[in-house]
Amino acid sequence: MATLTAPSQPASFLKRILPRTLLGRALLIILSPLVLLQVISTWVFYDRHYDTTTKRLSQALAGEIATVIQMMVRDPGSVERLQIFRMAQQSMFLNLKLEEGERLAVISSGESLNPFTSVLERKLTTALTTYVARPFLIDTQFARKQVSIQVQLADGVLHIVVPRDRLFSSTTYIFIMWMVGSSIVLFGVAVVFMRNQVKPIRRLAQAAERFGKGRDVANFKPEGATEVRQAAAAFLQMRHRIKRQIEQRTEFLAGVSHDLRTPLTRMKLQLAMLPGSAESESLQADVSEMEAMVEGYLAFARGEGAEKPVQTEVSHLLSEVVGRMRGQTVAIDLHIEEDLKVPLRREGMRRCLTNLIANAQRYATQVTVSAGRRGHTLEVLIDDDGPGIPPDKREEVFRPFYRLDPSRNPETGGVGLGLTIARDVVHNHGGELTLEDAPGGGLRARIWLPV
Ligand SMILES: Nc1ncnc2c1ncn2[C@@H]1O[C@H](COP(=O)(O)OP(=O)(O)OP(=O)(O)O)[C@@H](O)[C@H]1O
Ligand SMILES: [Mg+2]
Repeated sequence: MATLTAPSQPASFLKRILPRTLLGRALLIILSPLVLLQVISTWVFYDRHYDTTTKRLSQALAGEIATVIQMMVRDPGSVERLQIFRMAQQSMFLNLKLEEGERLAVISSGESLNPFTSVLERKLTTALTTYVARPFLIDTQFARKQVSIQVQLADGVLHIVVPRDRLFSSTTYIFIMWMVGSSIVLFGVAVVFMRNQVKPIRRLAQAAERFGKGRDVANFKPEGATEVRQAAAAFLQMRHRIKRQIEQRTEFLAGVSHDLRTPLTRMKLQLAMLPGSAESESLQADVSEMEAMVEGYLAFARGEGAEKPVQTEVSHLLSEVVGRMRGQTVAIDLHIEEDLKVPLRREGMRRCLTNLIANAQRYATQVTVSAGRRGHTLEVLIDDDGPGIPPDKREEVFRPFYRLDPSRNPETGGVGLGLTIARDVVHNHGGELTLEDAPGGGLRARIWLPV
């Protein structure tokens, strides 16, 4: 088991740190190769290009210094020396001065280099060692934008001051600046474009979510990339089909029930005219029951579909329903934790709550209704202290016209549509209705509604 669970840990860690939204992920996919590419290319460029240019420039300077020294050795006169210095100043930008009789106290050499020595100093030391081949001292920080080199000659120290530009290529920094700057601009453009691509997907997700919760999806139309349009069009088609199917089914059943009313009324009349007997009374009871069932179904079908959800104060709705149901023999307690506004089909919800409370009232002496928010859901509990429903029957009582007591005695139950209707209403809101044991021993009906 341990070997099976171990590999999932880094994966879950990655999942935790990676962005969750599509926009975040898409941007990460764009950004990470961009940064990686820049780091690699900058590294290569800096390492190679900067190194090579500094080396070449140092070699050129060392060569020039070596030439000047050779010329000075060949024509040692002070007049010639001045001429050489002037020429070096004009055509090589070398500022030369000879301190006669001076000796260098410290000298630079290959051994004095350490890992912190700058590339410039390192390359210059190597080049001077190779080309000039005399003791020397370098000061790359001599003055702003200037480098000083001192070379020990036989009769003194030659001081050379060179502009830094002669040894240093600033293109590296410009290159990095351009690269980082342009990537920031391009990344900004990518964010704007990506956002626009993600927007239709987000709208589609919202529309599907709203439809799932039974809420209105006003002016939703397919837009965006082809695949997103396809998905949106498929969603619209599906929504249309589901709506049509529900309507057709309800209309069909309502039609049958409606048409049954006339023959039932006729039968009732004929039975009333028959001389009273045990059989005719039993038949009359059956006909009355059928009538009640047909009326019950028609009442249910009438409420289907047409109603639109409206923002509703849950506390108002509950107090209204409970207030109407009170005043009968059974006491109803109402607890509302906080005020919540939820889009509800008010008529449907009223019917659902009324059915559940009426059931509790029929079988119990104490009813408690409580409501509160649990995360992203609204929870309504209807508890009673009656006999409850055995766990194996808790699904069956939701079936239409199902009663625990099959006798059809009005004392022990009604038509058997109450719970069916209640669950249908809750489902239409994208919620769930379940039956459980109440803490007080009876039945608890639990309604979950998305907020
Ligand atoms: N609170 C309850 N305690 C015990 N049994 C219940 C409770 N609520 C419902 N039942 C049982 O579940 C059955 C189905 O309930 P449902 O509300 O669907 O129909 P009904 O109450 O019989 O009729 P209707 O509500 O249509 O008038 C009831 O007949 C009853 O046997
Ligand atoms: Mg009922």
